[in-house]
Amino acid sequence: MDEFASPLELVRATSPERPVTLARPERLVRSARWFQSNFPGTLLYAVKANPSPWVISGLAAAGVDMFDIASTAEAELVRALAPHATLAYNNPVKSRASIARAYHEFGCRIFALDHIDELAKIEAATNYADDLTLIVRLAVDNAAAALPLAGKFGASIFDAPALLQAARARAARLGVTFHVGSQCMEPSAYAHAMRACSTLIARAGVTVDIVNCGGGFPSLYPGLTPPPLTRYAQAIEAASEEMLVMENAELWCEPGRALVAEAGSVLARIELRKGDALYLNDGAFGNLFDAAHLSWRFPARLIRASEEWQAEEAPFRLFGPTCDSMDAMPGPFPLPADADEGDYIEIGLLGAYGAAMASKFNGFGDADAAIVSDWPWQSIYDEQYAVEWVAASQRKRRGRGAAEAGGR
Ligand SMILES: Cc1ncc(COP(=O)(O)O)c(C=O)c1O
Repeated sequence: MDEFASPLELVRATSPERPVTLARPERLVRSARWFQSNFPGTLLYAVKANPSPWVISGLAAAGVDMFDIASTAEAELVRALAPHATLAYNNPVKSRASIARAYHEFGCRIFALDHIDELAKIEAATNYADDLTLIVRLAVDNAAAALPLAGKFGASIFDAPALLQAARARAARLGVTFHVGSQCMEPSAYAHAMRACSTLIARAGVTVDIVNCGGGFPSLYPGLTPPPLTRYAQAIEAASEEMLVMENAELWCEPGRALVAEAGSVLARIELRKGDALYLNDGAFGNLFDAAHLSWRFPARLIRASEEWQAEEAPFRLFGPTCDSMDAMPGPFPLPADADEGDYIEIGLLGAYGAAMASKFNGFGDADAAIVSDWPWQSIYDEQYAVEWVAASQRKRRGRGAAEAGGR
């Protein structure tokens, strides 16, 4: 990948015709270091969030040596780029052929499941191996997540005890896992989920060697400002001490979003302006899936070679290049009021579920890639963010107190 000091330098040098995904590898190292220093256990990376080779290699170089994979393609990718890494096949539903290749070809010994029939598949496809780590996925509340993932995976409170017993009988090591939902806004959601797991472990009467808290750790999007990540680590550490698991049980987490969101952005060009609507060369079927389908606002800034634009800002809607009316990002995205055709917009925090979601719909979806080294957005990893968040929540509490006192 070519390297530029900033997207502005890239635009001045190349005036790109196609969207450009921008990598900031240094942000990847920063987020990995945060989890390695603050999470009270082992860090896995959920490859699905961004399977780009620079992400896998960058995390491996930063010392991440366990990867949560969802498919054979992800197993191949990680094996090629991080040959000695440990693979955890944590997609609860897999084909028999895929389980067999993971075990026999890629050396994967860790498999998640949430149903008794999947257990039978794993046993058969691994020739009844005696060195399996089986991780039972349990259904937990997703109410605190901006993007709930409940309803598809996870054994219910009715099925979980029998499944835990059956898996215990066949596993060299038994684990439990859950997903509180992506972009989880409440650290206490992890504590609730861990308490629910503990109840089911007690009901099953099994010993558990691993508790995998899954993903869900948030990034910092406009309008979605979560508590500082230290609160999440603290909530998990406190809850883990109360769990009914082996004293030496391992605690894992497998973030996707929080590890990679800040490490990627996209540079898109405005092809037409109609009032407050900007038509871009990237959109819902490219890097901007979440901006369209979830109406999330992402930080955006104008990039114009002359660096001269109106000081006044206006709220814009964005549209992508395809003919589908779902290719619309309502925002609003505040940008200089004179934004127009030929300008570029950098949309940030797209390292997670950005390029990973892109399709070739309507013949679009091809993008170039480059490395940039500036950092224009607020980061959830800045200590200043924690200070500001605490001050804002104190202001909110004082405001609520005053309103209640006034009402009495
Ligand atoms: C099994 C599993 N682990 C981890 C993740 C990563 O979640 P997030 O990106 O919210 O951290 C996902 C996301 O879908 C997942 O399915």
